Amino acid sequence: MESKIKTMESTDNVGATVIVIFGAAGDLTWRKLMPAIYNLYLDKWIPDHFAVLGVARSDMNTEDFIKHIHEGIDKFSRTGKAKKEDWDTFEKYVSYKKGDFSDAATYTAIHEQIDQLEKDWAEPVNRVYYMAVPPVFFEEIATKIGESGLLKNKELSRIVVEKPFGHDLDSAKHLNCLLHGLFDESQIYRIDHYLGKETVQNILAFRFANAMFEPIWNRNYIDHVQITVSEQMGIENRGNYYETAGALSDMIQNHLLQLLCLIAMEAPVSFEANEVRNRKVDVLNAIRKITSEQVHKYAVRGQYGDGWVEGKRVKGYRLEPDVSKTSNKETFAAVKFFIDNWRWQGVPFYVRTGKRMNESISVITIQFRPVPHQSFPPETAENWQPNRLVLNIQPHMGIQLRFQSKRPGLKMLLTPVDMLFKYSDSYTAGTPEAYETLLLDIFQGDATLFMRGDQVEAAWKVLIPIVHTWNANTSPNFPNYAAGTHGPEDAEALIAKDGHNWIVMPLEKNENE
Ligand code: BG6
Repeated sequence: MESKIKTMESTDNVGATVIVIFGAAGDLTWRKLMPAIYNLYLDKWIPDHFAVLGVARSDMNTEDFIKHIHEGIDKFSRTGKAKKEDWDTFEKYVSYKKGDFSDAATYTAIHEQIDQLEKDWAEPVNRVYYMAVPPVFFEEIATKIGESGLLKNKELSRIVVEKPFGHDLDSAKHLNCLLHGLFDESQIYRIDHYLGKETVQNILAFRFANAMFEPIWNRNYIDHVQITVSEQMGIENRGNYYETAGALSDMIQNHLLQLLCLIAMEAPVSFEANEVRNRKVDVLNAIRKITSEQVHKYAVRGQYGDGWVEGKRVKGYRLEPDVSKTSNKETFAAVKFFIDNWRWQGVPFYVRTGKRMNESISVITIQFRPVPHQSFPPETAENWQPNRLVLNIQPHMGIQLRFQSKRPGLKMLLTPVDMLFKYSDSYTAGTPEAYETLLLDIFQGDATLFMRGDQVEAAWKVLIPIVHTWNANTSPNFPNYAAGTHGPEDAEALIAKDGHNWIVMPLEKNENE
């Protein structure tokens, strides 16, 4: 299956490219970026004139770095361990420079290396500056890139910014302002890796390449929408970061609001990057603002205490490394949104996400309204359930449509059944990782799947009253859910008071997955 959405501007060819990874010794480079680049190379997307330049403060040389990323690729690549003949060619693309991000000499060395490659290759070289670093370094690195002459060939340069993009509206505006002083918006790639996931891209295909659901995709037929991203994982070793973020900023501000936009957006006229992003900003701008006084009615927060996950005893959030023993950071958040426009007026969108939950699953459920008149007597329905469309994002990718059917037999008895599409049944080709899709888009200059500056700010505007209210109320009575459970009871109440409950209909794993 063709996995990438091509835009009007993109071409399949990647020109000569150097990707400079700041933070090359870190986890993201090891687990995600280098395995993704390696798989792009295996799939023949990488041009002959290509180089990866890793930059970090760790005391390594190129040989050490290559050994380090080789281990990472063997461990994390979706295609398994690297074969010797492939690796021998691939490693020639890779080099490493030890350098401090605050030191001008680091940037001079990068400059010299790119200039030399451009001379050797005798063609213009695209420069991708990837900030795979904690957010505290974004400003310094971007500024130094500007000061050091690395943007001399501005039209050939791109900068990639990992999330979180700011920690609130003001900091996001500040970062946008700084980047816009150096780069054109079209050169800035703000990553939200959810947008690179195959199933997430398929939401666009499902909605806009099929006519059959569009007539009912609105308030007249849809009762409510639920988006759940739950993880069994705790915060691993990211206590320092998580203490500054929390579930709202770490997940809802970006991944979950992006999913909501894909479900709620109007059809774009084309898949040109700005057109798609305009339609998403329209959704964010239409989300009803929650006032500080209303926060308790629309949003619920939680923090995990100790408990059991998959048969193992795990400790509570406050006992995780680098976390304050009295921390009030939320590891769970659920919010009810309304979108004030013609299509969605009055339809609640419930979103929730949490760490150390009972299962790891990302799923979107569209629940349709009941039939207007019930012709069947109540005794015919054993287990009456509303029509539901369930988009399973992970761990197993697919789409389920639940409807009523007659049970075989002499009597009229109704029972819910599912129509099912599973990726693993329909496609045998391997599914690219989100970072493969996104890196290729960056190399090709296609920004469709990246967040535009105004999009990030609009998402912060939606959440800022909740952030402020939660920060101001420092006694939320945490922990309020045990690890390995569904999250706090208040989250059940949030949806139950509207007569609903959280629905997760996981797909089963196929043998060939
Ligand atoms: C990241 C968050 O953006 O997404 C993590 O910072 C989270 O806290 C991760 O675990 C989830 O991504 P995925 O692809 O595993 O669902």
